[in-house]
Amino acid sequence: TTYTIIFTIAAYLIGSISFAVVASRAFGLSDPRTYGSKNPGATNVLRSGSKKAAIATLLGDCAKGWLPVFLAVHYGDRFGIEDGGIALIAIAVFVGHLWPVFFRFVGGKGVATALGVLLGLNVWLGLATLVTWLVVAYAFRYSSLAALVAAIFAPFYYGLLFGANEILFAVIIMSALLLVRHGKNIGNLLAGKESRIGSKAAGAK
Ligand code: G3P
Repeated sequence: TTYTIIFTIAAYLIGSISFAVVASRAFGLSDPRTYGSKNPGATNVLRSGSKKAAIATLLGDCAKGWLPVFLAVHYGDRFGIEDGGIALIAIAVFVGHLWPVFFRFVGGKGVATALGVLLGLNVWLGLATLVTWLVVAYAFRYSSLAALVAAIFAPFYYGLLFGANEILFAVIIMSALLLVRHGKNIGNLLAGKESRIGSKAAGAK
């Protein structure tokens, strides 16, 4: 429907807002695209040393993924938006984060935004994936490894909860894009060069 198209475009635009850039500016920090992994994401903002800015980034990027998906899931039927439409909206907000129209299409890796999308689809789905991330992060202290494992588990959680449908397809695409986005992290992990959570970056203020 026309509404599906409007919601999908709106989701893409919301996804394009980089809270790593916005929060860093608000807290007077350097641009996260200039230090550490150069990734505009909560993990890299934490390398500035500012926990507050990192949490603001995490919450902002997560909330922007959650909002359009939650609205589509709960109010979509009023606008003729069904599972296929929800799937499109979920992909659109995630794609906005990865390839943001406001930042020359250079975005982040999608971890916080994917979590928001999953929470918007279903709170238990989001929580199961978040717990997976937390367990791996706690055990190994690598944000990226935790994200990779959580992304692999998320489609299985969705399938167990809801079975196969268009939305499962969207979750698989999202996880696949997230894994591809972590190519450099995978290389660093294999080489033992990945930075652990809590280690600061040179050149950040
Ligand atoms: O939030 C993305 C995380 O999984 C990796 O980020 O900055 O270590 O490449 P980064």
